[in-house]
Amino acid sequence: MQTNDDFRNTDSQILASVSTPSHKIDSEECLTPQQIEPCIIVIFGATGDLTARKLIPALFNLYLNGGLPESFQIVGCGRTELDSADFRSEMEAALEASGTREPDMWQNFAAALHYHVIDYDNPDSYAALSETLKNLDRGNNTLGNRIFYVALPPKLYKTVAQMIGQAGMSAENMDGIGWSRIVVEKPFGTNLETAVDLDRSLHEYFAEHQIFRIDHYLAKETVQNILIFRFANALFEPIWNRRYIDHVVITATETLGVEHRAGYYENSGVLRDMFQNHMMQLLALTAMEPPSRFEDDLVRDEKTKVFRSLRPFPIQNLQEYLILGQYSAGSIDGEPVPSYRDEPDVDSDSNTPTFAMMKVFLDNWRWQGVPFYMTSGKRLNKKITEIAIQFKNVPYSMFRHILGEGILANRLTLGIHPEEKITLSFQTKIPGARVCLRTVTMDFHYDQNYTGPTLDAYEKVLIDCMLGDQMLFWRQDSVERCWSFLTPILNECETCDNRDQILHFYESGSMGPRAAKKLLANNTIQE
Ligand code: BG6
Repeated sequence: MQTNDDFRNTDSQILASVSTPSHKIDSEECLTPQQIEPCIIVIFGATGDLTARKLIPALFNLYLNGGLPESFQIVGCGRTELDSADFRSEMEAALEASGTREPDMWQNFAAALHYHVIDYDNPDSYAALSETLKNLDRGNNTLGNRIFYVALPPKLYKTVAQMIGQAGMSAENMDGIGWSRIVVEKPFGTNLETAVDLDRSLHEYFAEHQIFRIDHYLAKETVQNILIFRFANALFEPIWNRRYIDHVVITATETLGVEHRAGYYENSGVLRDMFQNHMMQLLALTAMEPPSRFEDDLVRDEKTKVFRSLRPFPIQNLQEYLILGQYSAGSIDGEPVPSYRDEPDVDSDSNTPTFAMMKVFLDNWRWQGVPFYMTSGKRLNKKITEIAIQFKNVPYSMFRHILGEGILANRLTLGIHPEEKITLSFQTKIPGARVCLRTVTMDFHYDQNYTGPTLDAYEKVLIDCMLGDQMLFWRQDSVERCWSFLTPILNECETCDNRDQILHFYESGSMGPRAAKKLLANNTIQE
């Protein structure tokens, strides 16, 4: 005979089978895309940090997981006098330091790794490089396809792009050359003027479809998932607007300090380092309209529209919309850490902000009146990257006479780091005779039901460059729109007389300046 428990079991089995995806796809199939064409990857700055820490490990992992084309070659270029054997040993040591040891596979991979000494502003050097690449094509069937990855300080971007072009290496589909792509890391300029100037130089020899401007945030799985979450589900989009959403909080905080990057950071500060790029992309993905198809230019068109609708910042009223901070001494994980001004190579009077909270509005129908708070800072108490969608209160509480005010409004959190999860909070009744509510959450963890390999952001970036897919890269019109928005703020912050007064100091390991908490608390719904 079937008992009630039996019925319950049967029910839960039915539920379980309903929630299992009906179109199961092998995880291997999702990891690597369609056939990638053979190519040579040229890395400028091959003896630098980025190459050792990110690029070679990413390429090697792709190799291990079948993510590289059948024929590929990698040419590291640098000023340091090395030969290919030295370069291979250095890269192997870097890989081992990162915890990867696959000696047999490394030997095979390393056979495709070469080193070319280069003088960055000497045309002869590039002519020699061009010959080297042609020889490699002949011996390895790489079809004249090239990726030029510029892993160098930004001041060299223009020179390198021009030299590649002058040596004939940016031309496509001629004289045995297939396609040619150039990859640059942020920063894309330091303000609107320099961004336009850099772009002009890149475009002297490369067309827009050949230029890949990296933002590693876009390649994070959890960031890519934002559009899938919003536009592959019917449930959320109808309430994704000013009618139901009270405000949005985008957070990217870190416990790390400036480390050894003072030379760059002193002239950059948090607004250029994090807002001009990563924070703006998170804003765009949260706020954009659905494109008509999931294609690179259509998606990027919609993002540009978001940037176009950014309300110009009220410069006269800066402090009501922007809180800037700088870390002072404190402790992180119980260890004492110095103040920003005491970090190596930082000016002892520096007013460079290491923290910012900015309140922005988008002037369009969907978002009119909804504040977006963006916060990023170094040396804070936690490393957290997330987007919190704070819904409005229920329009009217029928529980008011029993509970008083204070039913917490729903919140949806898209966790990017460290917890890769989506959380929806809502109210439920606490079992018992009295009417009492408690807030509970429904969580989805990305690793739930998935045990397969995952792609690191740089692996994804490299695959997309090889495929020529620009979906996860910045387009110049968006870069310029964001600079148009930020440049007046930067001008104001960098030139005003009371620069030191608008900077709030916060203890390392704290939650940031108190003024930031106040700015957020001014919102209708309390954090
Ligand atoms: C980089 C910034 O672009 O992003 C760094 O230059 C910052 O200052 C880093 O630390 C943060 O990236 P992630 O992926 O650790 O959040």
